[in-house]
Amino acid sequence: MMALSLRFDEKIAVVTGATGHIGRAFCKEFAELGGTCLLVDRDGVELEKLMVSLRKINGSNHGYFVPDLINASSRSKMLKEIQDQFDRIDLLVNNAAYTGDSNLDGWAVAFEDQSMDAWQSAMEVNLAAAFHLTQGLLPLLKKGMGPSVINIASIYGLVGPDMRLYTGTPMGNPLAYAASKGGLLQMTKWLASVLAPDVRVNAVSPGGVFRGQPEAFVQRYIDKTPLGRMATESDVVGSMIFLASDLASYLTGQNIVVDGGFTAR
Ligand SMILES: NC(=O)c1ccc[n+]([C@@H]2O[C@H](COP(=O)([O-])OP(=O)(O)OC[C@H]3O[C@@H](n4cnc5c(N)ncnc54)[C@H](O)[C@@H]3O)[C@@H](O)[C@H]2O)c1
Repeated sequence: MMALSLRFDEKIAVVTGATGHIGRAFCKEFAELGGTCLLVDRDGVELEKLMVSLRKINGSNHGYFVPDLINASSRSKMLKEIQDQFDRIDLLVNNAAYTGDSNLDGWAVAFEDQSMDAWQSAMEVNLAAAFHLTQGLLPLLKKGMGPSVINIASIYGLVGPDMRLYTGTPMGNPLAYAASKGGLLQMTKWLASVLAPDVRVNAVSPGGVFRGQPEAFVQRYIDKTPLGRMATESDVVGSMIFLASDLASYLTGQNIVVDGGFTAR
């Protein structure tokens, strides 16, 4: 039996939402382990900076693309650029998400006030883009080495929210986000069934990552969490690296819930 490897030398990953918190942490770890990243996000300046820092890590020829993933024609244009420039890819990480914020109209508000515009935006970035990119990159993935897709979902694709967590804070938990992540989990199973044995497809569902949220929210959240803390980016990246690696070569259609036990209670 060959020794199992956690190395990604010669492997190429397309990572959406690459300059976000989790995307950036994943790309750095993937590069530390020898891999090459094709970064996908909206801000060219941030992408350039991340690409330079990844090149310093392992000297690989990392690159980037700057689509707006909410827009189908922008996604198609990027897919064509990747198809023209690369013969194969080994990993696609659908990590970008429309997460909104409390200032966005019709988002972090009561159900009655959630808007169709916000719903459609979340569905486009969180669900349609994952469908479109997986379909568009499939021919390159099929030529990859042990290729796989990792979809970053959420605990809110699995369980309903406890709105008491947000009392007295500007935070919210809109249905569009939850429904899009639930859809992404089902997309994971559907694709795992249909793309086997060529391409493995798995998901990671993080719980809440600590980002300096209001103290009252954090305390209530950790009281509900068996491990007694919120997640860090590294907690999430560990499972992503595992799923991308040879260690997970017999895993497909699975969802690793990285939530400190939040959904176990
Ligand atoms: N942070 C959490 O607590 C948490 C919990 C559960 C799941 N998640 C999931 O983890 C993933 C990463 O989240 P994060 O916390 O790193 O968020 P983040 O906001 O730091 O990163 C998301 C990235 O996606 C990019 N993006 C969003 N819309 C885009 C568009 N239209 N075109 C191109 N890029 C776009 C953003 O620019 C950003 O860099 C997301 O799928 C999120 O839903 C996060």
